[in-house]
Amino acid sequence: MEQPTPLVIDTDPGIDDAVAILLALASPEVDLRLVTTVHGNVDLAQTTENALRVLHLAGRSDVPVAVGARGPLVHPMAERAGHVHGAAGLGGVQLPPSPAAVDPRPAVVALADLLTTAEQPVTVCAIGPLTNIALLLAVYPEAAARIGRLVVMGGSAGAGGNVTPAAEFNAWADPEAAQAVFSSTVPTVMVGLDVTLPTVLGADGVERFAAAGPLGETAGAILRQYMDHARRTYGVDGVVVHDALAVTEAVVPGTLTTVPRDVVVDTGLGATRGLTLVDRREPSGSATAVQVAEGVDSAAAVEFLVSRLAALAAG
Ligand code: BDR
Ligand code: CA
Repeated sequence: MEQPTPLVIDTDPGIDDAVAILLALASPEVDLRLVTTVHGNVDLAQTTENALRVLHLAGRSDVPVAVGARGPLVHPMAERAGHVHGAAGLGGVQLPPSPAAVDPRPAVVALADLLTTAEQPVTVCAIGPLTNIALLLAVYPEAAARIGRLVVMGGSAGAGGNVTPAAEFNAWADPEAAQAVFSSTVPTVMVGLDVTLPTVLGADGVERFAAAGPLGETAGAILRQYMDHARRTYGVDGVVVHDALAVTEAVVPGTLTTVPRDVVVDTGLGATRGLTLVDRREPSGSATAVQVAEGVDSAAAVEFLVSRLAALAAG
């Protein structure tokens, strides 16, 4: 078998972030080398604590967790997403504390170190606001240029928004950062609401991994609050595990059908702040084009997630 691809997850756990981290740990194609935390669904102290606890839940406290940005680059966020993820970010479930401490390096330093020393190109999967990645681009451009693939959960090409009528949450949470990332030459895949919203994990799937062992039962418990939210917000009986779909594309490149597009993020302060304007007139030939995910086999993606989590839970 080929060497697993080194992977970094930049995250704001977050219910679907927690599931996404577990999916990466369940996937032999990748070697999770680093988790970097960012403000987002809840505040930075809580996203960091949650990242440590999720890794500990899976018996992987050895994966370093480096602390990133406390807030967006320019304008403070109007609100976080505690109403979606629970005040502490994991749907009201209290995970046991991890014995591990955070990495002493700031997230961008840890990222730059890994990118410059890794023996093969690193995949970075960013599933929170893009503040840390924008800072990496600004502070360590040579290291950022070594990113093999950047898979971003964020934005929307034509599916509208989820936090406002125009904007997806991660893009809206730090539009200036999203603009810096989507206009860079880093090879970037945008996994937006167009492909995540149709990819619904139903209660039957949750029950399958919940029955496979204690870790699966805990993951199922974390998802229940999210299920209530999805029923209210999207009218679907199941959960939209946005971040897990991005990790799936990071683990198995080509899972999603992508088209190179020019993407501009609205950084104005009006009603469309955070909107990702995707030029869909024709594929882009630009060096800064973003591979925008436009096609997904949702049933296959859900099956991939459920079977991987069941296998992880079964030990
Ligand atoms: C994104 O927003 C967050 O609430 C989720 O964790 C996901 O990363 C979906 O818009
Ligand atoms: Ca997230």
